[in-house]
Amino acid sequence: MNENKPIGYVVGGGLQENLRVRLTVPSQEIQEGAFVTIRSEDWQFYGLVTDLQLGATDPRFADEQSETRLPAGLARALHGQTLYTNLEVLPALMLELGPELDSPDYPEWAKKMGDQLPQVRPVKTIPRHHAEVRLAGQGDIAEIFGDPEQKDNFVIGFTREQNHPVCVDLKKLTQRSFGVFGATGTGKSFLTRIVLAGLINNNIASVLVYDMHNEYGYDDSSSDTGKRVVGLKTLFGSKVQVVGLGGGTLIRTDTPDFTLELAMHDLVPADVELLTNELNLRDTTPTTLHALQISFGKDWFKSFKNMNREQIDEIDEKGKLRKVPHPDSVAAWALTNGVNVMAAEGLHDKLRRLFDKSYIVEKPASDAISEMIRQLELGRHIVLSFGKFESDLDYLLVSNLLTRKIRERWEKTTNDFRNGQNPPRQLVVVIEEAHKLLNREMAGQTTFATIAREMRKYYVTLLIIDQRPSQIHDEVMSQLGTRISGWLGDEDDIHAVLSGLAGRDSLRGMLAHLQQKEEVLLLGWGVPMPLPVRSRRYDEKFWKEMRGSTDHAREERNKKELGY
Ligand SMILES: Nc1ncnc2c1ncn2[C@@H]1O[C@H](COP(=O)(O)OP(=O)(O)OP(=O)(O)O)[C@@H](O)[C@H]1O
Ligand SMILES: [Mg+2]
Repeated sequence: MNENKPIGYVVGGGLQENLRVRLTVPSQEIQEGAFVTIRSEDWQFYGLVTDLQLGATDPRFADEQSETRLPAGLARALHGQTLYTNLEVLPALMLELGPELDSPDYPEWAKKMGDQLPQVRPVKTIPRHHAEVRLAGQGDIAEIFGDPEQKDNFVIGFTREQNHPVCVDLKKLTQRSFGVFGATGTGKSFLTRIVLAGLINNNIASVLVYDMHNEYGYDDSSSDTGKRVVGLKTLFGSKVQVVGLGGGTLIRTDTPDFTLELAMHDLVPADVELLTNELNLRDTTPTTLHALQISFGKDWFKSFKNMNREQIDEIDEKGKLRKVPHPDSVAAWALTNGVNVMAAEGLHDKLRRLFDKSYIVEKPASDAISEMIRQLELGRHIVLSFGKFESDLDYLLVSNLLTRKIRERWEKTTNDFRNGQNPPRQLVVVIEEAHKLLNREMAGQTTFATIAREMRKYYVTLLIIDQRPSQIHDEVMSQLGTRISGWLGDEDDIHAVLSGLAGRDSLRGMLAHLQQKEEVLLLGWGVPMPLPVRSRRYDEKFWKEMRGSTDHAREERNKKELGY
């Protein structure tokens, strides 16, 4: 299994404080984050180098520059005897390999195992003193992270020392909500494109992307190199439907597959309450909204929008002229319904920003929401591009409303499934700048938080992309199965990404030392153990591979249809 030469041997440490390994090769050959194996009797241990330390048998040997005082050969010999480098290794997994085939103990062990394959499991013990340590070879990596040749194992990156492919199990990845983090410019959107292409290509789940910055559907150009970046629509054709927000919207210069308009009667008071911060709403708002709904039912938004703010002159009983609210005004409605006039007028002012949205119409040209849901259920994928509607207000309102509908639908299908119908299609909802929807204030109210908490039972999970993970509610962060993180500089962000994970003290430095744009740390439930990797490139080679495999799949399908 091990194609690599030994790099050192265990000299101390333990499960709590990590293992200490004396390095027997030049320290430049090993980096923080290297994946190593330790063979100890019948067991193989797998661990991660979390630190390198210089040591000396006596501090004097380290302090004195003996190489300037002694002949070179002698100095080298002295250094060899007295100066050394230790690795700190976080032990993560162990696997029972059993005795050698020709050992007398083998038959008994084989009998005990029966036809069970040895299982990789979390470490519960430690290797012996002087156990040999090696860099993990391609076989070890495939043993732990999955064989790249096997279906659903998707190469996400490569080991940094030897460039061996490292896979994630796409099915497992989507079983719980997961996140892609990293400071701005570290490659989150690029890595997300790669993961989404993997999900689409392997037909693992339907994908719905809330594409706030119009990055995912059509081709784009890279912000730093200016080179062309192929979009998911280009890679997967009609399997990916690009939906533009608002009638007649163009996504830069491209015409989307169809457009989305919201019907006024689709808006419920909760959709507005969710915008409390964004619209700076007052605490009287829920009462006013409630009264509106009682007065007008589903038509509350339209009716409120159509109210005016005028006053008219009226002659009262004593023959005097006085001003009273126009019968169609906000004030008249408020007075007859026991609502505070100031509160109602204040809300009317603040909702003007919504009344003015051209994508909220009385009668949408088509039922785009149902069409989107239908496409997702059919196994297609939707990129909802916000076009020119790039404000937080648009993002919050539209994504929440739509997700609410989707949640209702998936809950229903799951319940039907329990009663014998077809199972729902696995769905991954992708949100960029997730903290806008999942910060502490919003998390209690948005459908997204509910999805993160419990929707995996209903076949819906989230892919959260964010540069400020510390701004996301801890409860949501703790629900994330897998975290893929690029470089982070801020202590709070690092803390948030590592929250709830074993060995986080050792992993902290690793996150802060990742190379910008090129490296990510794989973490959490969806990966067998933490590992930093050089992230896969989203480039011509990758696009060709995706296209090649879809061509291949098409060919296979054609053959089948033709009866071969
Ligand atoms: N996997 C990759 N393949 C090819 N290029 C990459 C990759 N990752 C990052 N890059 C390069 O880094 C640049 C920044 O990446 P990206 O746009 O994904 O950053 P980001 O983390 O999404 O940033 P922001 O938070 O500002 O949106 C890209 O324009 C690209 O040139
Ligand atoms: Mg981005």
